Amino acid sequence: MITVDERGSITSIEAASPDERLPETHPGAVFLPGLVDTHVHYPQTRVKGSASGPLLDWLKATVFPEEAKFADDDYAAAVALEFSAAMIAQGTTTASIYGSPHPAATDILFATLARLGLRAQLGLTLMDRGAPPENLLAAGPALAACEGLIERWHGHDDDRLRFCVTPRFALSCTPQLLRGAADLACAHGLSLQTHLAENDAELRATAAAFPDAADYLEVYESHGLVGERSLFAHCIHLSERNWDRLAERRACVAHCPDSNFFLGSGVMPLQAATSRGVRVGLGTDVGAGRTFSLRRVAARAYDAALLRGAPVTPEALLWLATRGGAEALGLDDRIGLLEPGFDADLCAVDLPTSSRRDPFDALLFNLDAGPVRATYVRGRRLLVDA
Ligand code: GUN
Ligand code: ZN
Repeated sequence: MITVDERGSITSIEAASPDERLPETHPGAVFLPGLVDTHVHYPQTRVKGSASGPLLDWLKATVFPEEAKFADDDYAAAVALEFSAAMIAQGTTTASIYGSPHPAATDILFATLARLGLRAQLGLTLMDRGAPPENLLAAGPALAACEGLIERWHGHDDDRLRFCVTPRFALSCTPQLLRGAADLACAHGLSLQTHLAENDAELRATAAAFPDAADYLEVYESHGLVGERSLFAHCIHLSERNWDRLAERRACVAHCPDSNFFLGSGVMPLQAATSRGVRVGLGTDVGAGRTFSLRRVAARAYDAALLRGAPVTPEALLWLATRGGAEALGLDDRIGLLEPGFDADLCAVDLPTSSRRDPFDALLFNLDAGPVRATYVRGRRLLVDA
């Protein structure tokens, strides 16, 4: 029995007596801390699983045309609901989200998350070059739009929603926009997210676009984008020295193995991060990721770790999908543990009785078993209306 106070914090966890009258029960279910998706793209919901990779080809053929559709507010609103519903259905309670390059569509997603009760950090996806004109917004108006979104949403509902500065990646931002993004994050004390070292062709193009930088990470360092509130997705093609620098600056990593397999990007060396104490969470990276299920992503992370010759346990993977994600998002004082004092963000998962002997294996690796029965944030069950 989990009891929750009026603010949604857990007050106790104990066995219920047989005659207890409980407001909600899930007989036979296993309760997990809510899953934390540290990297997901809202405007790619409808192109999830489109096989047009590798990365730069996929962005051009699939992503940019789809993201351009978010200029239409009705389209954006319909997808915002689908996106939120898909996360709730998989037991995700918190996400770090790339919004649309369009301020109105990003505002619509904020409003949808606010209404449905999910916890998130979310940013306008900043891009002022490297894509068709309908996907771009110049640095001045883009940063002004961020200020408006910060004003409207950052800290909403006792900090359930936060704004996160989101330069897409080095190739889609001019130096002026990268610098402006860093200044914005600094001025408001905000988190920042971007992509780093995902794909070979991307690395070559980045080196050509930023000839003064010794490597990809230095592009971000030299524009003031690397610090303890920075979250870098992918991090596949980094040197040992790069990993040292990420650790020294206390930056965080979103590990997105399903996406990395689907786009043929490579295998992130998880151990390079964990052995240095770099905070790591798991990311679905929908739509290069083929699923909103972080349990499936954890299964891919297991495969990836084996390929790297450094196996991980299912317990460690479940930790990454929950507590690790909370740490990477700087929310570990509130979520990621089912303990008194923490917010009651959790999910109830059906687990067949035949799986009870090895529940961690069954939860993560039996891909056919155990649907999510209910998802809660601050003790409130998340339900999607029409
Ligand atoms: N790099 C820049 N944009 C993207 C994106 O949308 N998805 C992935 N996987 N990598 C990116
Ligand atoms: Zn991504």
